[in-house]
Amino acid sequence: MKTIFSGIQPSGILTLGNYLGAMKHFVPLQDEFNCFYCIVDQHAITVPQDPAVLRENIRRLAALYLAVGLDPEKVTLFIQSEVPAHAKLGWIMLCTSYLGELERMTQFKDKSDGRGESIPGGLLAYPPLMAADILLYDTDFVPVGEDQKQHLELTRDLANRFNSRYSEVFKIPEIRLPETGARIMSLQDGTKKMSKSDSNVGGFISMLDDPDTITKKIKRAQTDSDSAVRYDKAEKPAVSNLMTIYSLCSGKSLDEIGAMYEGKGYGAFKGDLAEVVVETLRPIQERYNQLIQTSELDDILTKGAEKASETANKVLLRVEKAMGMARLG
Ligand code: TYM
Repeated sequence: MKTIFSGIQPSGILTLGNYLGAMKHFVPLQDEFNCFYCIVDQHAITVPQDPAVLRENIRRLAALYLAVGLDPEKVTLFIQSEVPAHAKLGWIMLCTSYLGELERMTQFKDKSDGRGESIPGGLLAYPPLMAADILLYDTDFVPVGEDQKQHLELTRDLANRFNSRYSEVFKIPEIRLPETGARIMSLQDGTKKMSKSDSNVGGFISMLDDPDTITKKIKRAQTDSDSAVRYDKAEKPAVSNLMTIYSLCSGKSLDEIGAMYEGKGYGAFKGDLAEVVVETLRPIQERYNQLIQTSELDDILTKGAEKASETANKVLLRVEKAMGMARLG
């Protein structure tokens, strides 16, 4: 059976972009693959986090993973910091990296911009830790949104570099991007990624927003100068983004949606879109509200960390042996 690995940062409540670009796709994969899904708290601490908020966000993310339909009997759900092999291999992958390639990562450039001398070292070490996450499980495929593409390419480069320096230790993973929705854009700026760290809360829909908030955000969403509901990414990025969201939440094709709203303008389209998004999130929110109260979550995470450690420790030992670190015997 082929292996899937993916991770999400517990750095705030997930957005509709996280859901449509990544999480939604995790669910059908559980029936076909050996899936490891991780709460990457060590990635979250590359920028300062309030301890109480981080603890809460880890728990919330675990509940959301299950609420979207992941079955803990089928997948391994765990917290990164509870499997020490991640930090250990993260260090080794950092030692396999070159400063130049790390400084070229666009996410590093964006996040370090304007920080002068005070750029946290963790931001630079972030991609090698992500490479470690993936390589520890002999992963075949990594389902992620488009913003992670460069990190995946680096992971493959580091794995190949290590294999040619020592021996064929790592399996080379492949990225799995969704056909549509790999990059959901901000509701306030059709050229900017929807992000949970956006200071303008009108730019994103949180997976836990209530129906009123969702409706208001969609009604206020940016549109383009003419009033046609037409998919044209270059000329009409804002409306094209809303149509993509509509399509992913309803299962209707972009052509069908275009035909449905021909000559109707943005008002009717936005009203229906709000309804479609509310109905997509409603069952997830209901399950989330039940799960967040239970101790079942802790049991699942404890078992998940044990199961993940079994695989990760084996691969780590293989790596350390190849490098001359583990004592033989
Ligand atoms: P994170 O936590 O920022 O995002 C989690 C997942 O959501 C996707 N995503 C989006 N997809 C479409 N449109 C958007 N606007 C959007 N915003 C986010 C991301 O691509 C991602 O798939 N570095 C990773 C976490 C990570 C990881 C890993 C992922 C750590 N180790 C190993 C895969 C494998 C991150 O920060 O994702």
